[in-house]
Amino acid sequence: MSCNSPIGVFDSGVGGLTVAKEIMRQLPDEQIVYFGDTARVPYGSKSKKTITTYTRQIVRFLQSKDVKAIVVACNTASAYALETVRKEVPVPMIGVVKPGAKAAAEATRNGRIGVIGTEGTIKSGIYTEFLSATNPNVTVFGKACPLFVPLVEEGWLQDPITVEVAKRYISELLDKDIDTLVLGCTHYPLLRKLIREVVGERVTLVNPAYETAVTLRTLLQERGLAHPKRDTLPEHTFFVSDGADKFREFANSILPCEVVETKDVNIESFEEEN
Ligand code: DGL
Repeated sequence: MSCNSPIGVFDSGVGGLTVAKEIMRQLPDEQIVYFGDTARVPYGSKSKKTITTYTRQIVRFLQSKDVKAIVVACNTASAYALETVRKEVPVPMIGVVKPGAKAAAEATRNGRIGVIGTEGTIKSGIYTEFLSATNPNVTVFGKACPLFVPLVEEGWLQDPITVEVAKRYISELLDKDIDTLVLGCTHYPLLRKLIREVVGERVTLVNPAYETAVTLRTLLQERGLAHPKRDTLPEHTFFVSDGADKFREFANSILPCEVVETKDVNIESFEEEN
C-alpha cells in the first residue's frame, strides 16, 4: 500500500454513504472502495461477537483491495468491533464515534446532549464514555431508534410514517432539555431534514461524518499517505453483499459522483483464519 492506494469505507448498508460523501467533499483526491453489508443489515440488533466477526471479514476484503486506511462508517461496528479489530491489522482504522463525540462536546452550550443510535450503539454506552472523557460536566441521554434503519434502507426518507416514528423516539429526549443531538448512526443523516422538523431550530444536530473526514485527513497527512493532487476526480468503487442494483440506485440518489457499477461480493468467503 502507498499514498496511491484507496481508502476502505464500510457500513451495514447505505448509511456509510453519508460518511463517504463527506470524505469525497473534504478529500477530493482520495479514491474510495466502499462495502455495504446489505445481506446482513441491520447490525444494530446483533451481538458484539457477530459484529466483530462481520467486521473482520469486511476488513479482510478491503485489505484484498490494497486499502491504505479503513473508515468504519458504522457506529455499531465502531462501538463493538473497532478496538479489537484495529489491533489485528497493519492498516490504520478509524471509526465515527470518537469524532462524533468530539463534535458534540464542542457544540453543546447547556451540557445536555442526546444521542440517537442503534440498540447496539446505545447499549454499549460508548458515546457517554467518549463524551464524558472530553467534558466530565456533560449529561448524556441515549435513545435507541431501531426502526430508523429499515425505513432508510426502504427509502422512506420523507414519509409521514417516518415522521411519526421520529416523534415517538425523540420526544423523550426533548423533554430532557437537550440542546445537542448526535445522529449516532450513519443512516440517520439521511433523515436529517425530517429530524430537524421534529426537534426544531433550538437543537444542534451533530453528524459525526464531518469530524470523521477531518480525522482521516489528519491521519493520512501524519503518515505520509495523503494522495497527491489529481487533475481528474478519482473513480470510486462500490461492493455489497446483496442487492447490487438497488444499492447503486440509492447511491446515485445521494452521492455527488456517478456510481456506474456495484458488484456483489461473497463476504463470508473472507473468513477469519483459525
Ligand atoms: N449505519 C450503522 C450504524 O451507524 C448500522 C445500522 C444498522 O445496520 O443497524 O450504526
